[in-house]
Amino acid sequence: MNTFTYKNTAINYSDSGKGNTILLIHGFLENSSMWFDLTSHLDKRYRIISVDLLGHGKSDCYGYVHTMEDQADMLFALISELRLRKVSLIGHSMGGYIALAFAELYPDNVRSLILLNSSAQPDSDERRINRDRAIDVVKKNSNAFTRMATQNLFDKDAHNLFPEKIEAFTQQALKTPLQGIIASLEGMKIRIDREALLHFSPYPKLIIASKNDTIIPLDDIKNQVAGAEVTFEIIPGGHVSTIEQEPKIASIITSFLKKNN
Ligand code: MLT
Repeated sequence: MNTFTYKNTAINYSDSGKGNTILLIHGFLENSSMWFDLTSHLDKRYRIISVDLLGHGKSDCYGYVHTMEDQADMLFALISELRLRKVSLIGHSMGGYIALAFAELYPDNVRSLILLNSSAQPDSDERRINRDRAIDVVKKNSNAFTRMATQNLFDKDAHNLFPEKIEAFTQQALKTPLQGIIASLEGMKIRIDREALLHFSPYPKLIIASKNDTIIPLDDIKNQVAGAEVTFEIIPGGHVSTIEQEPKIASIITSFLKKNN
């Protein structure tokens, strides 16, 4: 792993392989280790950069709110430091919100955009209220919050099919610092609508949505992509497709990148 300093904040990232660059952006309570299995399908052809976002994994917190734009600015600073111009972005869930913020702020640096179990819409009013409730729970007992939040991400069969992977995922999530959790909840709560990017941006886009995703409902994504020039794939399973559908998403992503990179 490597360290980079962004506004006096230590950022942890890995950098491997050669070729066009893919920037992997994990979701809430996740970290760069979540991409390990997927990376093994990609790193023969591409340079893969996987970052621990602000307040996640081994990266420090930057503030009391980490907006999607803060995270995108940090990613832009990292690729600038590495002297990279264009990258393909792959974002899971909150990582997709951040990929969209990056794409809006730095369009010249985007080769292609892949959203996994993510959405271009902002939080609904109800969701914002739930974020505030979550922040109250986190302040009282962040471990209990993290355990509950991670269990709810998976489809019902996943707990029997992938018990070890889900336990490893939960153990990683439990390492997320309290300030990092709250700063992300606050940041996701105030994120803006970026649906226009799905319709009007010039680079190739792939959206992968899961049938039983309880965090990002499939019907919402179907509405967002209607009429947009995107490759849209629906897969079985719940929110964490990198665990539940790893071979399937690897094959969808590899063939999309082959055509579009
Ligand atoms: C994530 O998995 O990144 C989050 O659950 C997304 C969200 O809460 O909106």
